[in-house]
Amino acid sequence: MKFFVDTANLEEIREANDMGVLDGVTTNPSLVKAEGNVDFHERVLKICEVVQGDVSAEVTATDFDGMMEEAHTLAQIHDNVVVKIPLIKEGIKALRALDDEGIRTNCTLCFSPTQALVAAKAGADYISPFIGRIDDISSDGMTLIEEIVQIYDNYDFETEVLAASIRHPTHVKRAALAGADVATMPFETMVKLLDHPLTDRGLERFLEDWEEYQEAKEEEAATAAV
Ligand code: E4P
Repeated sequence: MKFFVDTANLEEIREANDMGVLDGVTTNPSLVKAEGNVDFHERVLKICEVVQGDVSAEVTATDFDGMMEEAHTLAQIHDNVVVKIPLIKEGIKALRALDDEGIRTNCTLCFSPTQALVAAKAGADYISPFIGRIDDISSDGMTLIEEIVQIYDNYDFETEVLAASIRHPTHVKRAALAGADVATMPFETMVKLLDHPLTDRGLERFLEDWEEYQEAKEEEAATAAV
């Protein structure tokens, strides 16, 4: 499973990258807004310079021509840019046209298996089902991941399932069990994947015992020297 960090914050991206397990980055207009007064295109380039992997950058036009124009500009920023296209009718047309041009895409805002099926047929490189937002409305986001994985397997689609809108480590675990190709998560969640109280307690005990062992050895050496 590939790990992407879901942020436009350079500090978080650098920290995630330093962990050595980062495969890419996803951004969206809300995440860019959270960064304040930054130039979007410059930020995308900086992210690409930090991370050796795919970096999703989203178009904001909702018509075919507008999406194509933005996609061309974004794709020119860096070879690793993947253009994020919303899952609407005009977006499907753009996915097909961009695939024909060899521009890689991430189809975003997916909330149903049939949407994912159409996006794959249109040649999307990634499909982004939003797990957390489905859970938020008292439905089960993970069922969507399972169904998309099954549908793509049935027909050998090459579109990668990118589990998005991840809120906690259990989402990551269940997406991995369901066979999602990628999980994109906030940096905070990536760090939480490591958390376990027994690890902390176990390490504490090992370090205490090691200190006692060292002290005992020093005492023994001191006694032998007398
Ligand atoms: C990823 O590509 C999505 O933009 C992101 O995961 C959405 O997450 P949210 O539902 O927490 O905003």
